[in-house]
Amino acid sequence: QRHIVRLLSCPGTVAEDLRRDEQPSGSVETGFEDKIPRKRFSEMQNERREQAQRTVLIHCPEKISENKFLKYLSQHGPINNHFFYESFGLYAVVEFCRKESVGSLQNGTQTPNMAMETAIPFRSRFLSLKLKNQTSKQSCIQSSNQLPPSNRKLFELLCYAESIDDQLNTLLKEFQLTEENTKLRYLTCSLIEDIAAAYFPDCVVRPFGSSVNTFGKLGCDLDMFLDLDETRNLSTHKTSGNFLMEFQKILSVIGECLDHFGPGCVGVQKILNARCPLVRFSHQASGFQCDLTTNNKIALTSSELLYIYGALDSRVRALVFGIRCWARAHSLTSSIPGAWITNFSLTMMVIFFLQRRSPPILPTLDSLKTLADAEDKCIIEGNNCTFVHDLNRIKPSGNTETLELLLKEFFEYFGNFGREQNKPDSSPLYIQNPFETSLNISKNVSQSQLQKFVDLAQESAWILQQEDAHRPSVSSNQPWGLAAVLLPSVPNRGSLTKKKRKRSANERVKNLLESLKSNRTANFTETNEK
Ligand code: GTP
Ligand code: MG
Repeated sequence: QRHIVRLLSCPGTVAEDLRRDEQPSGSVETGFEDKIPRKRFSEMQNERREQAQRTVLIHCPEKISENKFLKYLSQHGPINNHFFYESFGLYAVVEFCRKESVGSLQNGTQTPNMAMETAIPFRSRFLSLKLKNQTSKQSCIQSSNQLPPSNRKLFELLCYAESIDDQLNTLLKEFQLTEENTKLRYLTCSLIEDIAAAYFPDCVVRPFGSSVNTFGKLGCDLDMFLDLDETRNLSTHKTSGNFLMEFQKILSVIGECLDHFGPGCVGVQKILNARCPLVRFSHQASGFQCDLTTNNKIALTSSELLYIYGALDSRVRALVFGIRCWARAHSLTSSIPGAWITNFSLTMMVIFFLQRRSPPILPTLDSLKTLADAEDKCIIEGNNCTFVHDLNRIKPSGNTETLELLLKEFFEYFGNFGREQNKPDSSPLYIQNPFETSLNISKNVSQSQLQKFVDLAQESAWILQQEDAHRPSVSSNQPWGLAAVLLPSVPNRGSLTKKKRKRSANERVKNLLESLKSNRTANFTETNEK
């Protein structure tokens, strides 16, 4: 048993033919194939981007009549859809059917500060609506929620679920990015692109990371990639020092620009000396914490790889969300950078685990490479990033294990992870970067954080095992299954022997159950990302 997580290949497994049959035979009908989004990542990104370009963000007065609002905007062309949300004020996202409508609306609006308009050659699609004779009596605007559920709500939902499978699917449903939230993410990128384009015409700002890789939780940050390839061919020599300098300069310029003129961009920080230089800011209107980078094409490719893994089988996302929430609840992950495991690493660990089931639930990266055709070929900075982009070419897994079993086995697997391993001279945890194979994405993880992860996995495996014997009846309001493993555990676990640990965990659960009878959610730690 080694401490190494690699997505590339599984040692000892016979290469399987993963190619999807031309005419899928009805042999394994798992039922979810139809629901899988079969769109290619690039197709999905282009569609969303085009949609965002036809969209405006409007800061609205608190009291507004939805009908009048829509009637006013429709003067500029038909509206495809719209929604309202709150984030220190009321905002509307309005998507027109045609891009021209945006121009028409902008021409019809007053620019409050003409001096600024001439200094900065862009016209924002972030508008503010002022009503002249404000007399709308009632505002019964339905506003769309952009936040994850409260712990109390989540906890109740989990307690009333019917099975652990049901719990994991419920958690997924509650935390996953909504259609509106996804639209708002693409719109925010598009608004930032308008600003960047003032200096770098034809640049593209693309979202990457959890906003697009199907593993994003409501409230997660918005990772943006400033793609300058369309304007100039920087990528060819970008490893040389000069080009790093150039990227730092570009980000510095964009940072200044966002700071001074970016509508609603606050707390702009330039973090230019990092391995991957970035500009961090908070986009107030959308409520997103944004990280803008530029020479980061590989990260976009990793996002696509995760997108494919997330879309291949409906169990993948449910399990990843469960594990991410579990890690957050036990402070194994944090929004502050440090020696802890990241969500990105956790996702890799789940994928790695699912590749090792028998039969595998997910294919190895090597087999996704063998399915690639000439069109899929991709080399970034000398790294081979080739893999199949067409989801329809990948055969669905014949594995029918339940989520409940997978959750238990995940904890078992990582509860015994790397036990016999003794590698004093290298990082405690090694998760191979799938495309830059000499890099370890979990290099930051300390021995004590790894140990904490392994201990908690063991403990959670044990809690689930115990429950099998005497599961509380579903209507009993007691935390069980996933809810029980999301509960924080008491400190000083590390010094206990396994047997003692088992016993004490048992007592602890009993105590927790007692205390929870009076106040069911009091001890439940914050699972929200931010
Ligand atoms: P959240 O925690 O929900 O934000 O997950 P995330 O996947 O968006 O992670 P994060 O915002 O930290 O990073 C954004 C993206 O950058 C990831 O999805 C990866 O593609 C990439 N990334 C993050 N950390 C690393 C790393 O250590 N190495 C490499 N190569 N890429 C990374
Ligand atoms: Mg992120």
